[in-house]
Amino acid sequence: MEHLLIKGKNRLNGDVFISGAKNAVVAIIPAAIIANGVCIIDNLPSIEDVRCLQDTLSKLGAVCELIDEGTLMVDSSNLNNFNATFDSVRRIRASYYLMGALLARFKEAKVALPGGCNFGTRPIDLHLKAFKALGAEIEEDYDSGIISLKAEKLVGTNIFLDTVSVGATINTMLAATLAEGVTTIENAAKEPHIVDTANFLNMLGAKIKGAGTDVIRITGVESLHGAEYMIIPDQIEAGTYMIAAAVCGGNVSVRNIIPKHMDSLSAKLKEMGCKVVEGDDYIDVISDGKLSSTRVKTMAYPGFPTDLQPQMVAGLSKADGISILTETVWENRFQYIDQLKKFGCDISIDGRVAIIHGVSQLHGADVMATDLRAGAAMVIAGLASNGITKIGNVRFIDRGYEKIEYKLRNLGADIKRVKE
Ligand code: EPZ
Repeated sequence: MEHLLIKGKNRLNGDVFISGAKNAVVAIIPAAIIANGVCIIDNLPSIEDVRCLQDTLSKLGAVCELIDEGTLMVDSSNLNNFNATFDSVRRIRASYYLMGALLARFKEAKVALPGGCNFGTRPIDLHLKAFKALGAEIEEDYDSGIISLKAEKLVGTNIFLDTVSVGATINTMLAATLAEGVTTIENAAKEPHIVDTANFLNMLGAKIKGAGTDVIRITGVESLHGAEYMIIPDQIEAGTYMIAAAVCGGNVSVRNIIPKHMDSLSAKLKEMGCKVVEGDDYIDVISDGKLSSTRVKTMAYPGFPTDLQPQMVAGLSKADGISILTETVWENRFQYIDQLKKFGCDISIDGRVAIIHGVSQLHGADVMATDLRAGAAMVIAGLASNGITKIGNVRFIDRGYEKIEYKLRNLGADIKRVKE
């Protein structure tokens, strides 16, 4: 059992280098299944979700190995199995991308239902509707938890997504890459990882236009070849360090990022009283640790990301006054609030709204990470608290944050990982 131990109240100063984007790489590794050739993926984050996908692709028959620190080689030429029903598939949510990728390659796929962070119903009906529209027959066996997909052929069509969904947008792009004719996705999600996945597929020879807007057009091609590709920086990891700097006070340069991706957070932090200075590939957050309250509403990109909601709630807990945070993406993403209350946070929940009464001081607590971003929120609360914080279930945090304690220590935080 591993814990993070934090002695709070240190100011944060210095540079932190952001790793490759988790939610891009978890789509790009499965996308490499479609290529007839070797894909080299650079700026690979060293996180559990990547190791889980590596394991999954290897079990399917691909060669999927690190050739350097931060560089993954995927050779799917000998991948000959479309039955992705083993345990590693169930461990992460992004395994749903195996459906689109295997369907594109074999016109057939059997995939175990995805796991991942549990904050309410996480349906995949839109993914399945899109596969069906492209010509797949689908069997959903909820006893075994396995989805089977099969198509004579996949044929491009118009797909309107009822809800803006990252997963359904990417999965439809994957499945449509080799389909006959043109597929149009309307009401597509616009997150940076969607653009990154489309850029990767285009580098392999796909014809995808419009990624980053709400209409994406995919003209099917015969086959994809290998290529080398660099993953974009992680918007959410960057945002987590920006919020940590704002709450703890100090001067932190968040480096190796795309500042544009951070616009919604930068605007909020400025509103809360921080100085936020943008450079070409970095943002400096300068804060005296005294924050004002604000209102935040999570939205699909370019709105404020739901994946920064828990970290922001932790930050607002120390802001002066009452803040209101509305979660519009996930119906039940406030389960971690009870853990935050152990730090002395004064938060009440009314449906999808969190009402946060800022307190002047938090105190260290013994808490459990309830999911990935909730874990990050607890780290922030611990850094900003008087006394010692102990965070259990670190494995959740490791799913999406590379070397979190090392990066924070470099900024002056007193944090270590302990085994019990
Ligand atoms: C992705 O999840 C991210 N995961 C999530 O990040 C993130 O919270 C979410 O997008 C929203 O930004 C990955 O990229 C692997 P959605 P995804 O489909 O694709 C509803 C993290 O912490 N919906 O965009 O699963 C759904 O209920 C993780 O890194 C349907 O109704 O999310 C939700 O309300 C957690 N039917 C909304 O759409 C569907 O078929 C958005 O979900 C699919 C989704």
